[in-house]
Formats: sequence, C-alpha cells, structure tokens
Amino acid sequence: MTVTGNEPARSNADIIGRDDVNDVDAIFEVTNTDRDEVVRHVQNNADTLFTWDYEKGARPRLNKLYEKAKHAMWDGEQDLDWSIDVDLDEVIEHMRAVTYVQNQSLFKLAEVPGSPLSNFGEDEWNELARESLVWQMSQFLHGEQGALVATAKIVETVPWIDAKYYAATQVMDEARHVEVFAKYLDTKLGDRYPINIHLRDLLDDVIDDSRWDMTYLGMQIMIEGLALAAFGFLHQITDEPLLKKLLRYVMSDEARHVAFGVLSLQEHYQNLTLAEIQERQEFAFEAALRMRDRFLRQEVWHRLGIDDARPIIACMLNAPPEEKEFQRLLFSKIVPNCRKLGLLDAGEGWLRTKFTEIGVIEFEHLESSDDEYGDFALATG
Ligand SMILES: [Fe+2]
Ligand SMILES: [Fe+2]
Repeated sequence: MTVTGNEPARSNADIIGRDDVNDVDAIFEVTNTDRDEVVRHVQNNADTLFTWDYEKGARPRLNKLYEKAKHAMWDGEQDLDWSIDVDLDEVIEHMRAVTYVQNQSLFKLAEVPGSPLSNFGEDEWNELARESLVWQMSQFLHGEQGALVATAKIVETVPWIDAKYYAATQVMDEARHVEVFAKYLDTKLGDRYPINIHLRDLLDDVIDDSRWDMTYLGMQIMIEGLALAAFGFLHQITDEPLLKKLLRYVMSDEARHVAFGVLSLQEHYQNLTLAEIQERQEFAFEAALRMRDRFLRQEVWHRLGIDDARPIIACMLNAPPEEKEFQRLLFSKIVPNCRKLGLLDAGEGWLRTKFTEIGVIEFEHLESSDDEYGDFALATG
C-alpha cells in the first residue's frame, strides 16, 4: 500500500500570482506523479469544538435545511436501476453530437500538420470522448470523497449545533454519492482515473487549513458549487437513463449542500475584518483557478499518448466564447454565491476584477443557492 502526502500543495502565491492566468507552462508544471497512490495522508490542523448550547433552531434556516435533509435521503441501491445495460458506444455518439459545436477549435487544430491532434481520425475522436467521460466521472468520484471528508471535518469544527446536525446529514449524503459514482464507474464504464493534481491540491488545502470557515468556502461554495453546475451540464448532454437519474438524485442533495455553505458563511463573515475577508477572496479565486485548470484534462491527453499537450491546452484556453460555454457555466453557481457572501466587492472589488478577467462575472445576478435549493428537490423527496 502506498501512503503519500508529504509533498506540499502549491501555495496561493504560486496560483494567483501568475502574470497570466492562462499560462500553460505553469498549469503543466505539476502533474500527479504517483498514479498508484492508494492512501493519502493530509495533516488536519483545525481544532475540534464541542458546544454545550443545544438550542435547536437557534439558526432557523439551518434548522429547516436539516429537517428537509432528514427526509430527502434516497438509496442508490434501491432507487437506481442498475440492471440497465449501458451501451458506451451509443452514449459517446450522443455526447459527441450534442457537444460538437464546443470542439470546433480542436477540430481546426487537428488540421494543422504536426499538431498533437494531426493523426486524429474517427476512432481517436471516439477514444477521446470515451476517456473524457471516464475521467470526468472519476474526478466526480474523488471530489465526492473530498466532500465526505471535508464535511466530517465541519461536524467537528463548526461551533453551532444546528450546523453540526446539518453537516451530519451531509456526511451521509456524500457517502451515498461516493458509492453511486464508484459503482457506475466500476460496473458501467469499467475504468477509472486517479485524482487530478489540481483537484487534489485543492482538497489538501481545504483539509489542512485551521480555520473552520475555510472548509465551507473551499468545499460547499467552490467545489460543490462547481459540481452542481457540472452535474447539470452532464445531465443535459447525456440520454443514458441510469446516469441521468443518478445525476438528478445527486444534484438534489448538492443544491442543499451549497445552500448550507451560503447560510453558514453569511453569518460568520459579518464578524470578520476586511483583512480576513480579503484572505477569503484570494482563497476563492485560487480555488476557482485550480478547478478551471483541472477541466483541461491533462491526464486524458497523457493516456492518449500525447507527450506534449500544451498546444491543445492553449487552443482550449484561447477558444472563442461560444466554445467555452461549458467552462463558463461551471461558475454559474459560484459567482452569485460569492456575491451573496459579500466577497465580490469587499477590498475595492478585488474578486470582481478577477472574475471579470476570467470572463464569468455576468453570472453574479443569477439566483443564489440559499434561495434556489428547493427547485432541485426530487418530486418524491
Ligand atoms: Fe456530493
Ligand atoms: Fe455535496
């Protein structure tokens, strides 16, 4: 068994200090070197808090969320039809057809002699789509385990009883999410990728930070906000009934989890100094870049035998806006929630400027998750 975790995650300065957020060399500087890692050790530096104040409902909106969560638990074994036979070729064909318009720049790159995609024919494009799906679902799986562990940490570290109660229900939700993604990968896709380095660095940061609210910001606001948008996108582009239902069920929980983050941090941030808020802004932007970088799928290019994928990454980063719709949509939950928390405009609007630079600020007036989570509830929930 391989146990690692001694090498530090990159610092904030390494990430947000880049002159150019699209610096392809910087993005590729780190890769996951230990692909056989089985157990990862990360130091948890936070204090565990007991509270003797058991007044249930002192925070009514958290209490309401907890009461809903207790009745909304589904069971992946019972509620999903695992007997469905998944025809991966059909799944891929459908996905390629509905995402065709988003890949125009890559098709053009393939026409350039000597480019890393120049030998791509129909088989290679199918292979890329298949690997991308397996990679995507694998990162969802690893992210779900991150949520499981981070939320267990919140149970220990948050000082309020209503939040401890709610977080305990989320721990159970995340266990079920890990379970269904692992089962889908193992029984329907038959393959799996290790965790992406950018996602792993972010999970390390979330766990190793000593401040309890940083767990919420990194996990509930950033990672789960992005996941909710990404699940929604995959739900939209697939017609495979088992995957569609699995994603729909997971999304009904994730919307509540993001709301939990917004409701908890709203109260806490009111008591922070400007300097402390500025640290949160930087943490949020660093997380945003790490998540954007992970979607560049460096492991997929590696597995396809492309030694130097930098021209492909540059091509994706410089694609016209209509092709980057998915990349932008990933921020459709994060930006309105950061606005609701006051993170966009504090400190002369530092985060607003950064989100403008990466082209996602226009999502700021969409509904925030504390207001919309009910829209995602299952009809049976
Ligand atoms: Fe989850
Ligand atoms: Fe979650």
